[in-house]
Amino acid sequence: MDVLTMPRPDDLHIHLRDGDVLQAVLPATARVFGRATVMPNLRPPVVTTADAVAYRDRILAAVPAGVDFMPLMTLYLTDKTDPDDLKQGIGAGVVQAVKLYPAGATTNSDHGVRSLDGLDPVLEVLAARGIPLLVHGEVTDPEVDVFDREAVFIERHAVPMLERHPTLRMVFEHATTAEAVGFVRSHPEDRVAATLTPQHLLMDRNALFEGGLRPHRYCLPVLKRRQHREALLAAATSGDPRFFLGTDSAPHARHAKETACGCAGCYTAPHALALYAQAFDAVDALDRLPDFASRFGARFYGLPENAGQVRLVRDPVPVPDPTVLPDGHTIVPLLAGETLDWRVEIDPR
Ligand code: DOR
Ligand code: ZN
Repeated sequence: MDVLTMPRPDDLHIHLRDGDVLQAVLPATARVFGRATVMPNLRPPVVTTADAVAYRDRILAAVPAGVDFMPLMTLYLTDKTDPDDLKQGIGAGVVQAVKLYPAGATTNSDHGVRSLDGLDPVLEVLAARGIPLLVHGEVTDPEVDVFDREAVFIERHAVPMLERHPTLRMVFEHATTAEAVGFVRSHPEDRVAATLTPQHLLMDRNALFEGGLRPHRYCLPVLKRRQHREALLAAATSGDPRFFLGTDSAPHARHAKETACGCAGCYTAPHALALYAQAFDAVDALDRLPDFASRFGARFYGLPENAGQVRLVRDPVPVPDPTVLPDGHTIVPLLAGETLDWRVEIDPR
């Protein structure tokens, strides 16, 4: 297959940041994706409905003229999240999902949840309305090895949480292990799903050290060993609607990545769909990409398929150049300097 046409896809997990970075990174996503689930881990985080409305307005103001793009807004769950404000945000159609970051798990997560037990009133609001809880599924217990944090979170927290709230819906974000795939599959289709990133489909943890330390391949949850990558790719290409596209594109300036203590996050917005095509093509499963990218996520969120189409054309193209910010700093895309096999074309409406 050399040309693949599909409905405009959705990115169900992205970091757009704010200010100059938002202006610089948003056009790449809006060009290709009809909608994106926007992570709330700004500084300070998006915690109330009013915060989400204001952030949504800033995002919409950054969408290039003539481009049709809808941000799906999320709230950052804290120990103080007000169930009444959440009800109002959901009722007004502002809040599409709520994100759970265990405190300290990742970038800007220090405001996150310290006690999962205190969340029951908020989880009841979500469960009653069918609004998904998006989970960063890693324990923060320093005793737990960084490569085991996802599997331990599932056992200690995710399973008990779903048992306590039998109608709560969950998206296990950026799943990175075979255990996460098994966890998702052990629940009904409309109950638990997972997003999968391009980096976790394309690379295993050897890639972090290939010829030297590779900071632009470092994200959280960290890349795992090969068997896990294979389990994720099998899930992504299986036609199971519980697995769908969420890039976790997480822009950090080059100097914040190439340093003694570098930030976690892979920047994939400029070439995301081509990266997924690369992964699916490698296992001869390109025909499964349209459902994974354009249908399954929307279905789980209860949204219609996007209007419009995009086309992947087999044609070698270099990974896009770094994105330049007004202050001269740059954001380096994943696999910079390498060549991709796919070019993305947008069908005019
Ligand atoms: O690698 C990551 N970067 N993982 C996350 O969970 C957060 C993200 C970010 O915001 O940079
Ligand atoms: Zn993320």
